[in-house]
Formats: sequence, C-alpha cells, structure tokens
Amino acid sequence: MKHVTCIEDLRLLHQQRVPKAFFDYADRGSYTEDTLRANSEKLQEIKFRQRILVDVSKRDLSTTILGEPASMPLVLAPVGLLGMQHGDGEIHACRAAQAAGIPFTQSTMSICSIEDIAAAVDKPFWFQLYVMKDRGFIKALIERAIAAKCSALVLTVDLQVIGQRHQDIKNGMTVPPEWSLSKLVDFASKPSWVAGIMRGKRKTFGNLAGHLKISEDITSLSTWINSQFDTTLNWKDVDWIRSIWPGKLILKGILDTEDAEIAAKSGAQAIVVSNHGGRQLDGAPSSIEVLPEIADSVGSQLEIMFDGGIRTGMDIMRALALGAKSCMIGRAYAYGLGAAGQEGVAKAIDVLAKELTTTMGLCGVNTIAEIDDHVLAV
Ligand SMILES: Cc1cc2nc3c(=O)[nH]c(=O)nc-3n(C[C@H](O)[C@H](O)[C@H](O)COP(=O)(O)O)c2cc1C
Repeated sequence: MKHVTCIEDLRLLHQQRVPKAFFDYADRGSYTEDTLRANSEKLQEIKFRQRILVDVSKRDLSTTILGEPASMPLVLAPVGLLGMQHGDGEIHACRAAQAAGIPFTQSTMSICSIEDIAAAVDKPFWFQLYVMKDRGFIKALIERAIAAKCSALVLTVDLQVIGQRHQDIKNGMTVPPEWSLSKLVDFASKPSWVAGIMRGKRKTFGNLAGHLKISEDITSLSTWINSQFDTTLNWKDVDWIRSIWPGKLILKGILDTEDAEIAAKSGAQAIVVSNHGGRQLDGAPSSIEVLPEIADSVGSQLEIMFDGGIRTGMDIMRALALGAKSCMIGRAYAYGLGAAGQEGVAKAIDVLAKELTTTMGLCGVNTIAEIDDHVLAV
C-alpha cells in the first residue's frame, strides 16, 4: 500500500487482483456510459479559488451526518456483491469505515447477510433497501434491519427497472461465480482472490438466501432483478415503509427538483442526489449538475447527500461547496476492497481525507461548516 497515492492506483490493483467479470461489474456503467463519464468530468470542470496567507493550522474534517458525529463528511455507499470482490467483503468494508469513524451502508444485494455483519462489527451500520414484489419478504427484511440495530434505512428509488450494463452480459457475470473453462483461466491467474472467496462465509446473496427461491443460482443478475423488483413502487409505498421502519430514512437516487420537493414532505430525513453512479438512466445529467438547484430548493428541509463520480478529496470539496452536507462513495472504496480487502478500503478513505484536508488548506478554510460556494472560482 506504500506506493498507493490515489484512488486510480487502487483501481489498477483491483483490476489485477480480481477476475474481469467482477472488476467490470464494479467499474462500468449502463449503455453508452455517457452519464458515468459525465459524473467525473463535470466535477473536474469545477475550479477552486486559491487563497493565501490564511491561518489554516486548525483544519478539522469532523462533522455530523444525520445528527451523528463523523470524522469526515463521507459515507460508504451501498454496493452490491462486495463479497465477490473479496471474501466477506461487506464485513471488511464495514470494519474499515467504522475504524475511520464514518458510516457504512450495506446493500440488499450483499453476499454477507445483515446478521453476518452485525455479528462481526461493534457499531451500528446503515441498511439499503430495494423493494421487491414479495412485500412479505420486504417487511421481514426491514424487521431484520431493525433487529440488527441498523441506524438508518437507505431506500433506493432509482432502480425499479434496471439499466443494462453491456459488459456484465458480455462477461457472463453470474452469482455465484461460474467455474467454466474460460473463467477458470482467469481465476487461475488470481489465486489470492480465489483463496479469499473460498474462505468467505457465503457465495451468493446472503440477505435473500432461503427466502427467494431463485436466489440460490442467479444465472443472469439483470434478468432476475427485472423479474423480482417491483415496478409499481410509488410514493405511497414510502408511507408503507415509514410505517414499518421507525428510524432515520434516506431516499437515494433523486436527480430532479420536483422529486426532491415531494421527498421533503415524505417523512425522510435525507436524500442522496444520485444517478446510481451512471449505472441506470444513461443520458441523465451528472449528479453534480443538478445538486445546486436541489440543495437550494430543499436543503433547509432535508439533509442533502451527494454521490456520483467522486474519486478525490477535491471532488468531495466541490460537492460540499455546491450544497451537499456529506458525500457517498461507491467505486472509490470498491476498488480499495478489490485491491486489498479492509486495508484497501482504509487506504481509499485515507487518500480522500488527506486530499480533502489539503484542498481546504489551499482554499483557506479550516472547518467543514465553512465550505460553501465562496471556495469556488467563478
Ligand atoms: C458495483 C456497484 C454496485 C452498486 N450496487 C448498489 C446497490 O446494491 N444499491 C444501491 O442503492 N446502489 C448501488 N450502487 C450505486 C452506489 O450506491 C452509488 O450510488 C454509486 O456508486 C456512486 O457513484 P461512484 O461509484 O462514482 O462513487 C452500486 C454501485 C456500484 C459501482
């Protein structure tokens, strides 16, 4: 890890260490990948004001996220299949987040179950919910998150239908991994990945195992999702979820100001301005382009979180400057996990924290609360 200086280094290590189908699953986006590219490109177009001769000796990244203290304004986003990037990947990522003092969000589509993680860590984590047609199962899943003392529920609202990711189809990406001849050649050159996966508790979706019949052998993830996820999902269902979940509720996947205004009246405490990391509606705007209008419109009613394209601490600073209270990262830590398990996730968080504190210093600010659009060049 000594020579890792940036998230791109972790990405390249991830690519070397993990079979192509799983690396591509993490790295790529939907259709033409227009929105995936825009997420990073539009962030990089935003320039800072360099300020000089300001005392920046007391820089402090600490903040609160939904009322809880956090060491920096960062959350690990829900990412499916972490346990296929590294054996027991969800547990490793959660431990790295908690050691760094930031929240971890477990995806519904995890390899480890809610109970596996709860048994392996000391502090509460967040749980992300996808709503499937079997509402009895969804109610039971929420009750499992309550029993595991999850401290927030992240309801993802941008995946009623799934955007096609061409590369997953071309790679024949399956869960559990298919041990076909072509895959074996790839696996043979990744022995540390194979050993980790073999040691891992589970090889399929831990939260669904034993509940949804087909989950034991999902040959095509997207076909299965299309058959299971509930396309009737609408705002009334948010009320239903509210009636079961007593804790903090976050709506993730809002990109439109009108939707944000409805969300502000839904009983949710926060929204995540997100296009699912360019994996859903290809041709949607980058998350950063829509953030200022949404933050202006509902920022006083709800906590505004942001994700999409964050690869540096400078990107976190840009999102905070344009109205986000905190940011989520997906790929940036998934690369770390694929590269080196818990140590790699810790490295990803550390890289971003150091970049953020340096950027604050060079922009003349000491605290997260001071960051607003005054740090940006016009
Ligand atoms: C490999 C991968 C799997 C993901 N799985 C989920 C998921 O299960 N649930 C969810 O709400 N979002 C999921 N997302 C979206 C992330 O939570 C987040 O919105 C996105 O990664 C942010 O963009 P970034 O990767 O550029 O940081 C996934 C993203 C990636 C890259």
